Amino acid sequence: MTDPKLRVLISAEKIQARVRELGEKISADYPTGKLHMICILKGAAFFMADLARALNRDVSIDFMGISSYGKGKTSSGEVKVTKDLDVTIEGADILIVEDIVDSGVTLNYLMHLLDQRKPRSIRIAALLDKPDHRLRPVHVAYVGFEIPDEFVVGYGLDYAERYRNLDAICVLEDDQQAEL
Ligand code: IMP
Ligand code: MG
Repeated sequence: MTDPKLRVLISAEKIQARVRELGEKISADYPTGKLHMICILKGAAFFMADLARALNRDVSIDFMGISSYGKGKTSSGEVKVTKDLDVTIEGADILIVEDIVDSGVTLNYLMHLLDQRKPRSIRIAALLDKPDHRLRPVHVAYVGFEIPDEFVVGYGLDYAERYRNLDAICVLEDDQQAEL
């Protein structure tokens, strides 16, 4: 897609290569047993689909809807569960799959919530990390790319529900946002 508002930050090829690397690392870290992947909707759906296929092992998957962002670009600071898990996670090895860690508010909340359900272990894989903007501590075991504090879209990430289907991660240029 050629759109003057978008600047490619991470190409589709780089994303795919990095997801394969993460897949190898995660497969090696969990050599036996079941791995239960939890995709945080909607932004992580594309990452989840590619990462699950990059894992050389048996997995099960579930989806959770959780949001701390409204329609715009700044966090409301409020976390809301919009869709809960379908199956219990007690005793399971959990891999949370998230698109991006920004303030950390969403994942900090989610880790506490899921911890109460007594999984055997719980780790986070996030495609993107914006460490400059952290308000709450979050340990991310598997990070795809660290990026600067800019608003990005594509590969699942949206601005007001647009741009999720871009195959690259792009910066949405600032001066254009009023038009959207
Ligand atoms: P946090 O709670 O501030 O860490 O925000 C995490 C959520 O905010 C992510 O799951 C995204 O849905 C959204 N988010 C944060 N930064 C961006 C961005 O640059 N582009 C699109 N969505 C973002
Ligand atoms: Mg999200």
